[in-house]
Amino acid sequence: MQIRPFEDDDTDGVRHLLDAAFDGVEESRIVRALRAADADVLELVAVDHGRVVGEIMFSPVIGQTAAGTEIYGIGLGPVAVAEDVRQRGIASALIEHGLTYLRQLGVPFCVLLGEPGFYKRFGFEPARARHWFWEADPDAKYGDAFQLLSLSDSPLDVSNVTISYHAAFAPESD
Ligand SMILES: CC(C)(COP(=O)(O)OP(=O)(O)OC[C@H]1O[C@@H](n2cnc3c(N)ncnc32)[C@H](O)[C@@H]1OP(=O)(O)O)[C@@H](O)C(=O)NCCC(=O)NCCS
Repeated sequence: MQIRPFEDDDTDGVRHLLDAAFDGVEESRIVRALRAADADVLELVAVDHGRVVGEIMFSPVIGQTAAGTEIYGIGLGPVAVAEDVRQRGIASALIEHGLTYLRQLGVPFCVLLGEPGFYKRFGFEPARARHWFWEADPDAKYGDAFQLLSLSDSPLDVSNVTISYHAAFAPESD
């Protein structure tokens, strides 16, 4: 199995993987929209004998501080692995590869919406503990699901931040 950057030839394989993993077409639509908007900062695939069995996308996010300044980071997601090859560390490898690359780029922080029980192994912690919120969930109704990770050696020194994802994440209107 190989982990490498997404290539155009992976388009159908990624779409098939995401639609099956999420049981719907929304995540694959978002991924295509991010690519079309040049907002696919990093997209990695896991390929096994020519078949795309895993995918992860990282896209830009903007944080608005209480002082009114903007800070720039990265959002993780979606990430998916084909059902028949789960529990083998493929998602973990995609996440670790991605975070390592983004650290080298100097990206200061990463946010995501997901299961805290899974993501805490990578160092993510509930964002609301640092008063970071997702603009679509200002009251933290999703509890600890919105998570944050500093990608630099020092902890994040800013609190009271509202995070916005790229417009590609907004549901399409009919
Ligand atoms: C979540 C997902 C990407 C994990 O892929 P994977 O390759 O099986 O993950 P890994 O093998 O690296 O890690 C497996 C570990 O994650 C844990 N895990 C997986 N899904 C979890 C969840 N929803 N909540 C908590 N833990 C979870 C497993 O219990 C396992 O734990 P262990 O290492 O202690 O046994 C995969 O299950 C998937 O594609 N699910 C459908 C899409 C999805 O929900 N994506 C995440 C939201 S964007």
